[in-house]
Amino acid sequence: MPSRRRTLASMAALGLGLPALAAAPSPRPELPRPAEFDFSRPLTATRARLPFAGGQSGGYGYDGLCPGPLIRVRSGAEFRIRVANALREETTFHWHGLVAPTAADGQPQAPVLPGTEQEICFPIRQRAALSWYHPHPHGATARQAWNGLGGLFVINDAEEDALDLPAGDDELFLVLRDAQIGGPGRLLYPFDPDGTEGRVPLVNGVINPRTELPARQVRLRILNAANARVFRLSAGAPLTVIGNDGGLLPAPVPVNEVQIGPAERLDLILDLRGAPPGGSIGLRDADFEEPLVDIAIRAGAPDRWEIPARLSRIEPLVHDGTGPDRVFRFEGDSSINGQGFDPRRIDFAIPFGKVERWRFYSAQGAPHPIHVHGAHFQVIAREGGRGRVEPWETGWKDTVLKWAPEQVDVLIRFDAYEGRYLLHCHKLEHEDGGMMLNFVTGRDPQAALERARIEALYG
Ligand code: C2O
Ligand code: CU
Repeated sequence: MPSRRRTLASMAALGLGLPALAAAPSPRPELPRPAEFDFSRPLTATRARLPFAGGQSGGYGYDGLCPGPLIRVRSGAEFRIRVANALREETTFHWHGLVAPTAADGQPQAPVLPGTEQEICFPIRQRAALSWYHPHPHGATARQAWNGLGGLFVINDAEEDALDLPAGDDELFLVLRDAQIGGPGRLLYPFDPDGTEGRVPLVNGVINPRTELPARQVRLRILNAANARVFRLSAGAPLTVIGNDGGLLPAPVPVNEVQIGPAERLDLILDLRGAPPGGSIGLRDADFEEPLVDIAIRAGAPDRWEIPARLSRIEPLVHDGTGPDRVFRFEGDSSINGQGFDPRRIDFAIPFGKVERWRFYSAQGAPHPIHVHGAHFQVIAREGGRGRVEPWETGWKDTVLKWAPEQVDVLIRFDAYEGRYLLHCHKLEHEDGGMMLNFVTGRDPQAALERARIEALYG
């Protein structure tokens, strides 16, 4: 693949007037730390003046912010929140990575109308993990997310607490995405049906920020909130993966570079103990010349904590069968198995509590970050492409990045709620284009399917 950087550089050399891809603002702005959500007020989707777009209006934000406030809940607690739509269009509030009952899942079939408010309530029956929330309205998800809607959702639990992971100032939440800025501070949406990418990277809503960290081990909790961009991250100091979408991995895995597709999350330990105070290192992406974040090192209190060799216990799903139970072909930019999305069509029913083997396949075309609602899965095989399951794809996942040509097999079990859920590509322009389908899960799958079909048709 020719590097995007080089292509743009040569276009600029041809006098096409493109702004430099990677000219970092100087001085670099401070990296903002997302504020925690205050549950006494509704979470409001609203129009916003976004700093990265020069403070011009035209952006969107949760509570006026991009990223939105960080929601924090403990495992076992009840999640109760009011959500409000102050936009002039429909939206939904989807809790990505949370296993929620259908009615609370923020699916396109249940929009929150402009000027209205809803209360959402469900128990958190899953372990510690970094999840997130974003809009999911039928056909308008990509534009709303691009305009600035998205925020972090953190679950904590006792298993994680016991590890004594870096916390407080030593735990950094990083929401990565990209944007396109035109003229003086205008947010552009250069729509591409095959996935829109922008020329500037944003970290927590800021272009090329800087921050200062102690020469200790720090925990980086990363979300890729981009519509379509895949980030390939590296840092000038040792990096270890300790978790991903569904929480902690069984054991830490040191890496040189780590890849994160749209909607995926990473939990990393960055070891700055060997970095000389007074110097700086960069958190880098392979496509951008300038570091995404410039990290200045300062002296820190001595750090004798070591990453535990065992991080968590993960029950390996076991499938009793040889072949896949279902095969999903992702082709072009708008269909799965030859069909586009129809909110009223329910494609199949999954027996509640049964482990199924699903195969995601495409012969050609772009990478697809494939996401399932209602359950987490385990990636067990990749064939025909990269040929291996990457270390950061082990454990529990809710989104898997599938390249082409390639087939990826996952094991999945729905055992939390019976109901209707979605399978879709999380490249948001593909999702809006129709690369999405509905299914149901139920103890009596046939009955669940018939009920859901009638409901879908007649409300
Ligand atoms: Cu993050 Cu169906 O979405
Ligand atoms: Cu796709």
